[in-house]
Amino acid sequence: MNKRQQIGFDHPVASDITPESVFRARRSFLGTAGVAALGGLLPAAQALAAQDGLAALPARLDPRDSTTEKPTPYSDVTTYNNFYEFGTSKSDPSRYAGSLRTRPWTVVVEGEVAKPRSFGIEDLLRLAPMEERIYRHRCVEAWSMVIPWIGYPLSQLLRQVQPTSKARYVEFVTLLDPAEMPGQNDAVLQWPYLEGLRMDEAMHPLALLTFGLYGKLLPNQNGAPVRMVLPWKYGFKSAKSIVRIRLVEKQPVTSWMRAVPNWYGFYSNVNPNVSPQNWSQAHERRIGQGSFGGLFTPQVPTRMFNGYGEQVAQLYKGMDLSKDF
Ligand code: MTE
Repeated sequence: MNKRQQIGFDHPVASDITPESVFRARRSFLGTAGVAALGGLLPAAQALAAQDGLAALPARLDPRDSTTEKPTPYSDVTTYNNFYEFGTSKSDPSRYAGSLRTRPWTVVVEGEVAKPRSFGIEDLLRLAPMEERIYRHRCVEAWSMVIPWIGYPLSQLLRQVQPTSKARYVEFVTLLDPAEMPGQNDAVLQWPYLEGLRMDEAMHPLALLTFGLYGKLLPNQNGAPVRMVLPWKYGFKSAKSIVRIRLVEKQPVTSWMRAVPNWYGFYSNVNPNVSPQNWSQAHERRIGQGSFGGLFTPQVPTRMFNGYGEQVAQLYKGMDLSKDF
């Protein structure tokens, strides 16, 4: 049994079998249709979200930071998930995350800050204007989606607590509650789920404190009531259902680093040239865009920093990203 099987991780892709010609034809179609499709797709998906009984979360689209690529259908975004607190298969979170109670909810922001504080979720929802950001979302398992998230930059929250000069890193902690999160009864990972960022990454305007998607509050399986979204990093950096944000002096040890240290580095920036895992990061499968109900998903080349290099590359100037992966 290899390490991947030991920790119960799904194998990334058996597919990646779309013939090159088919994939190219589809891509050129999507290229021209992408922008036009957006207007039509969002209301339909919002109708679907309404069936979930989730409240609307009004937000202004931020066109500057949004891709014009076609968003992944709502049904895929909300049924093909990684949220190991509810099981390790992709369909487990949408099946079982109903047990999570997201009200009342508090997020403690503490550590190297002048004004530690605990924020009720209602305070957080009011803290700054909500923006819709359509981001590419790249998972380390070599699949990707395009998701219209809703939130505001994490920097807005961090400024409230006044980080001290010792605050060099930020640690994110997910809820620990095996009764509501039955997957925590299995030792797949060490719980609670922990993630981290360097302070300058956390303050970057693309780092989104996220409360919704597709015009509504987040479904539980996507990390309700509040999660991070970091579009230039692999998806696992974006901790879900956050209850604690700690500003610290030392680099945190994250759940995935602890579980498989030679596969998961602290930075985990999307990088097609570096594959510390035993599968390649050079390409990705776009979920929900293939024929036969998404069975044959198009494969697209992965871009450095997931295509956000213009905004984030300067954060890593002078670093060797094959060592600091
Ligand atoms: N956060 C917690 N608490 N637990 C998890 O298992 N999985 C991560 C990340 N955040 C995970 C998590 C991984 S591997 C990915 S790819 C993304 O969430 C998936 O987000 P999505 O299901 O909304 O697409």
